[in-house]
Amino acid sequence: DSSYSFVVWFVMFISCVDLWQPNSASLIHQNATVDVHVNRNDTQGLHSRLKQERIDYRVFISNLQKEIEKQTGYRSSRKRRSEAQYDYEVYHSLEEIQSWMFETNQTHPDLVDMFSVGKSYEGRPLYVLQLGKRSRPQKKAVWIDCGVHAREWIGPAFCQWFVKEAISSYQYDSVMTRLLDQLNFYVMPVFNVDGYRFSWTTDRFWRKTRSKNHKFHCRGVDANRNWKVKWCDEGASSHPCDDTYCGPYPESEPEVKAVAKFLRKHKKRIKAYISIHAYAQMLLYPYSYKYATIPNFSCVESAAQNAVTALYSAYGVRYRYGPASTTLYVSSGSSIDWAYRNGIPYAFAFELRDTGYFGFLLPESLINPTCTETMRAVKAIASGLLKKCETDRDRFPYI
Ligand SMILES: *[C@@H]1O[C@H](CO)[C@@H](O)[C@H](O)[C@H]1NC(C)=O
Ligand SMILES: *[C@@H]1O[C@H](CO)[C@@H](O)[C@H](O)[C@H]1NC(C)=O
Ligand SMILES: *[C@@H]1O[C@H](CO)[C@@H](O)[C@H](O)[C@H]1NC(C)=O
Ligand SMILES: *[C@@H]1O[C@H](CO)[C@@H](O)[C@H](O)[C@H]1NC(C)=O
Ligand SMILES: [Zn+2]
Repeated sequence: DSSYSFVVWFVMFISCVDLWQPNSASLIHQNATVDVHVNRNDTQGLHSRLKQERIDYRVFISNLQKEIEKQTGYRSSRKRRSEAQYDYEVYHSLEEIQSWMFETNQTHPDLVDMFSVGKSYEGRPLYVLQLGKRSRPQKKAVWIDCGVHAREWIGPAFCQWFVKEAISSYQYDSVMTRLLDQLNFYVMPVFNVDGYRFSWTTDRFWRKTRSKNHKFHCRGVDANRNWKVKWCDEGASSHPCDDTYCGPYPESEPEVKAVAKFLRKHKKRIKAYISIHAYAQMLLYPYSYKYATIPNFSCVESAAQNAVTALYSAYGVRYRYGPASTTLYVSSGSSIDWAYRNGIPYAFAFELRDTGYFGFLLPESLINPTCTETMRAVKAIASGLLKKCETDRDRFPYI
């Protein structure tokens, strides 16, 4: 019948378009909201098909190319002259971000140390900034990575914002001073360096790494499906052309392998793992791969609740929070599940603004509010590490 033929058509259609949300066609169910980017030539056919099936739809961005050019054009006017004039309210290319890192490392030797954890598939260094007052030899630490998925440009913008705020508010803001005195932060502004660069030069909506596959022409692996935890099970694809391709084997991607190695080496000190993604306005914690409650649920849950409350206090933006599997969708081989499995008790993935209006093309005018509110949430999580988590059992020793 007609609804069956629609489903057949829809499956065909969705497999040749750029799916924004959810990131895999298998996650589309009845009543689901789907964000999709279609070619100008395909829009007429889609309109009439959706009308015919009485499916609600809205066009949020009618000319995507124009929106893209707003964020990558006028490059010369934003060229910074020094770190003091670096513009944190625009998106930056990989080259700009890396030279900003070198400069930050040079100008703040008391608080910052820049190093590389390895090399990407295409041979680029994987730089990390360590932030924190030197002195205490074995401080607790917080890992923050951004730009795991190339097209989520707000991520790297947030990591840069975090570094700027940490440095400029040290000794002025009492919370930040305490955090940098008592903790080390490892901030990796661009995890997927090859993919991020490709999203600037060639395909704005590229998600994966850029590794080659010897059997298929499709390139890249989803760097958030490539971790060695329930690898390539539900919510990951084994097909190299899919956006959620898990890779040929766990840690096949040099970027994932390098970060996993660093985290393994320092797992005794690293108490929180935070990965910044977009978009959905959510704060997620394990498990991603199954519908089950983690052992230390109450500590992690209350940390998440404090974080979204702090975030809300800035501009009243509401974030949903909870286990990734039930709050967003099931995915296997994710970095938060891996971090948690390897003994990092607080593992979080943020899905920043928005909920689909601009999607991956979040305008530069929203970098400031998005980063300001997220900063509050991350500070809340980090501050929680300095206190003992009072679980229910601690509070009620008789039960
Ligand atoms: C889909 O939404 C409609 C209207 O909101 C509701 O009546 C229906 O029960 C929903 N179906 C499912 C499967 O959730
Ligand atoms: C869209 O259609 C025009 C005219 O038929 C054609 O020249 C163009 O190549 C098409 N573009 C794409 C991306 O398919
Ligand atoms: C960062 O600065 C320190 C000196 O403060 C230097 O030893 C180190 O090599 C620098 N890192 C990089 C990647 O240049
Ligand atoms: C749960 O919390 C306790 C106390 O903080 C800690 O020793 C233990 O390792 C945690 N377990 C997990 C799985 O995070
Ligand atoms: Zn992502």
